[in-house]
Amino acid sequence: MISITASSQKISEQKADCFGFLLTEKETTSPEIKACEKKLGITIAPFIKAHDFSGKKGQICVIPAEHNKKIYHIILAGLGSKKDNSIETYRRAVAQLYRQANAHKVKTIALSLPKASLFDLSEQELAQQTATTLAMTSYNFDDFFSKENKTKVTVESVIACVSSAEKAKCAAGIKDGETVGIAVNKARHWVNTPPSDLTPIDLAEYAKKIAKKHGLKFTQFTEKEIIKKGMGGLAGVGRGSDQESQLIIMEYKASKKNAETITFVGKGITFDSGGLSLKPPVHMETMKEDMSGAAAVIASMEALAQLKPNVNVVGIAPLAENLPSGKATKPGDILRFYNGKTAEVKNTDAEGRLVLADALAYAAKHYKPDAIIDFATLTGACAYALGPFYSGLMTQDDDLAAVIEDAAEDSGDHVWRLPFSDDYKVAIKSDVADICNIGSNKYMAGAITAGHFLKHFVGDIPFAHLDIAGTAFNVPDRPYYKAGATGVGVRLMIDIAQHWD
Ligand code: BES
Ligand code: MG
Ligand code: ZN
Repeated sequence: MISITASSQKISEQKADCFGFLLTEKETTSPEIKACEKKLGITIAPFIKAHDFSGKKGQICVIPAEHNKKIYHIILAGLGSKKDNSIETYRRAVAQLYRQANAHKVKTIALSLPKASLFDLSEQELAQQTATTLAMTSYNFDDFFSKENKTKVTVESVIACVSSAEKAKCAAGIKDGETVGIAVNKARHWVNTPPSDLTPIDLAEYAKKIAKKHGLKFTQFTEKEIIKKGMGGLAGVGRGSDQESQLIIMEYKASKKNAETITFVGKGITFDSGGLSLKPPVHMETMKEDMSGAAAVIASMEALAQLKPNVNVVGIAPLAENLPSGKATKPGDILRFYNGKTAEVKNTDAEGRLVLADALAYAAKHYKPDAIIDFATLTGACAYALGPFYSGLMTQDDDLAAVIEDAAEDSGDHVWRLPFSDDYKVAIKSDVADICNIGSNKYMAGAITAGHFLKHFVGDIPFAHLDIAGTAFNVPDRPYYKAGATGVGVRLMIDIAQHWD
């Protein structure tokens, strides 16, 4: 784990072998940079010129120096023009700076934090973003590599240089930011873990340990209990597998009196082969990712137990493995859910909505929350529509949409709202049951019709569905990610909970 601290000592006086600066366009020097140049006995202007560095978005300039027989680096990262500075630009610049430092074998980065007002944030919020981003960027999934193939990490610590007036607040921001980053990385780790090493029972065990450690109320239903309770969707999906299905519930209780309650539900298919409607091999390759929603919910609950927002949060994850076998649910079967509704299964690969249906119905009945938000790698259609940079947001509640859209901008888990009118409802009519688990071809819009399936299970409770099929895994071009899981949803859920009132 990378260590991140705040210091109000001048950057040039830090014990570090790298000095990092984040600069807006045309701002290629500052008194702090000059002090570092003086300390190292170098002039960086020729490097800046030779590299054409002008502080533009995405630009990076690494300047090596030798001083008293030791090697140092000054790294400059561009933030672009002062006007269009988004916090997302900052996150990417921080991530790039970290990667360059690591590539140059740096051990300690002294990082000069820019003015938080540039991004319309408080100093504490900027420090939090910095720590979360650094934690995410330093994540590697290399458990299964032999020693010689493991990722080479040299950066051990980052010292965020801030004003003495803001030091305490920045330290608090860094602590919270690390908590968020650790949660993101934990979700990524579970998603990256091979599917035979992370079964529904394994993931339920992790959730249970977390709940115990942080004093969260914990409930777990075994496959037997799932069947007995009438959760026919979850039972039906897990039936083909020898791995037992599970449903877990984690509850955080706010200390604030009469706090509202939100429920996060995460799809937890630990491997999705498609079932009897078997996927082609190429589509199956990454289907260990199909529990990304559940991983995000469980990891977020751990962070929320520490961050203690003023809202009660219930996290629910239906967990199952979707495999074909002689016992598997068949196309043509009809399943009955926890709320009594039935669905015809035309395609066993549309299993996410079947397991979520029971979890949503359970949440609605037992918690009557003020909002239910689910996170699910639900449809290839959503991934095709929006690509890897935006999760699909479906809701008929404009207030809830606004809350989620704000949190998305803040946190970096970006969303794009899709139309979700009742016009699409007819697409999931069935001739033999209340609804059908796939939409009729005529209506296309597979992401939206899947959302409508879910809506049948939440009653009148404000509801939003986030389809993370495109954003959960192998997202390119983001320097704080690498190949594999992204932990999408963790930053978003935490931001929603922290700003709820
Ligand atoms: N897990 C998949 C969706 C998915 C696709 C996630 C690509 C991540 C990347 C889901 O269970 C599924 O198979 N959905 C089907 C639904 C269809 C049969 C209506 C799909 O999208 O093809
Ligand atoms: Mg089974
Ligand atoms: Zn599927």
